[in-house]
Amino acid sequence: MKICIIGLGYIGLPTALMLSKSHNVFGCDTKEEIVENINGKNPPFIEPGLEEMLKKSNLRAFTHPVESDVFIICVPTLFNKEVKMADLKYVKRAIEEIVPYLRKENLIIIESTITPGTCEKIVTPLLEKSGLRVNKDIYLSHCPERAMPGNTFYEIIHNNRVVGGSDDKSADLAEELYKSFVKGTIYKTSIRTAEFVKLMENTTRDVNIALVNEFAILAEEIGINVREAIELANKHPRVNLLTPGPGVGGHCIAVDPWFLTESTVNTRIINTAREINDGMPRYILSKAKKIFVERNIKDPTVTIFGVAYKGNVDDTRETPALKLIKLCEKEGWNVKVYDPCVKEFEYPLLPLEEAIRDTDLIIVETDHTEFKNINAKMTSNFVRNKNIIDTRNIMNCKEFLDEGFEIKILGIGKGN
Ligand SMILES: NC(=O)c1ccc[n+]([C@@H]2O[C@H](COP(=O)([O-])OP(=O)(O)OC[C@H]3O[C@@H](n4cnc5c(N)ncnc54)[C@H](O)[C@@H]3O)[C@@H](O)[C@H]2O)c1
Repeated sequence: MKICIIGLGYIGLPTALMLSKSHNVFGCDTKEEIVENINGKNPPFIEPGLEEMLKKSNLRAFTHPVESDVFIICVPTLFNKEVKMADLKYVKRAIEEIVPYLRKENLIIIESTITPGTCEKIVTPLLEKSGLRVNKDIYLSHCPERAMPGNTFYEIIHNNRVVGGSDDKSADLAEELYKSFVKGTIYKTSIRTAEFVKLMENTTRDVNIALVNEFAILAEEIGINVREAIELANKHPRVNLLTPGPGVGGHCIAVDPWFLTESTVNTRIINTAREINDGMPRYILSKAKKIFVERNIKDPTVTIFGVAYKGNVDDTRETPALKLIKLCEKEGWNVKVYDPCVKEFEYPLLPLEEAIRDTDLIIVETDHTEFKNINAKMTSNFVRNKNIIDTRNIMNCKEFLDEGFEIKILGIGKGN
């Protein structure tokens, strides 16, 4: 079968590589650099297993679509921050671009996250500009992706999948295709339900994170260790609390809940959870301010450890670290950034020693494993003041305390 994957990013490229094991797969990306990298067998981003898979595969990439039996759309879903709505312009453009290549019996699968109703109200009319009718001449499915960067290959194989069809045949065709590499169970449903399920999943995570972030703030007020409390609460057979942190990042969990709220007046919890998680950088800032006031530190320098939105990845999309940096700058503080995984960011990424030289406060934003091994003695030789706020509880606390550092861990109140 000939398959054309539109959008060769974190989701599209691994999907293309998995399908290329048993099908004739073409990739299409508008960015020439990505196409050149893929054809030159160079991974365009960090993902365990990507380099080996790319070297072994016969995937060929182009900057335009290729006539195929199946088209899979994996382009980004943008988020319009001003109006807090999904911006579907990339999805629309990708559909418009495949229209000239469509033939009878083609299957079109949307993997990109979309708002409920998009396939019926936006995608179908665009596809039908080809003169072909959805459910009669061509077939349409929405198969939202659930994989997590850093573990993508394992997850796209083993996760269960939800396949929404615009009719039964569309769902059956998509199921058949995914069966070629998915070992999880494939559940078929309507296209609108599949659109909704994806957003429910990420919203659930956002709400659960907001809950533990609120618990972390309360634990600090009460004077207990929230991590110990969470561990104990999780001994309850029906409680499963997550881990608090400096906010929510990544271009899914931090934005998808807004896709549910954009056209309704009937959501409360979803909006509040977003507010709590988006407010975490302000909370961390207030902690930093307190340290500088208490220790009479003037014109401080702050070093941010980690700008990736989560540990051991290079992805900085929607990272809460960016908001914290901007808030620190607004205070007039000097901000330096260190991230051993990230290669490109809005602010200069400094080598470790340069980043901690003469700093007054290190704020740990990301749980990169590498942070566990940062030497306290070495750090102590470079900094001006020995203060750490660890929002992830990742630093080697004992070593730093022995070196005379003051460490504040998110969710741990005084006396713990
Ligand atoms: N990354 C994740 O963890 C994840 C998880 C689940 C769902 N998703 C969803 O999957 C979709 C893709 O996400 P991603 O992380 O792979 O995005 P990405 O930004 O990593 O990759 C998308 C690629 O699409 C290309 N592109 C944009 N418009 C194009 C067009 N018209 N034709 C061809 N290529 C085009 C871009 O150049 C880019 O390389 C999004 O809707 C996202 O919300 C992502």
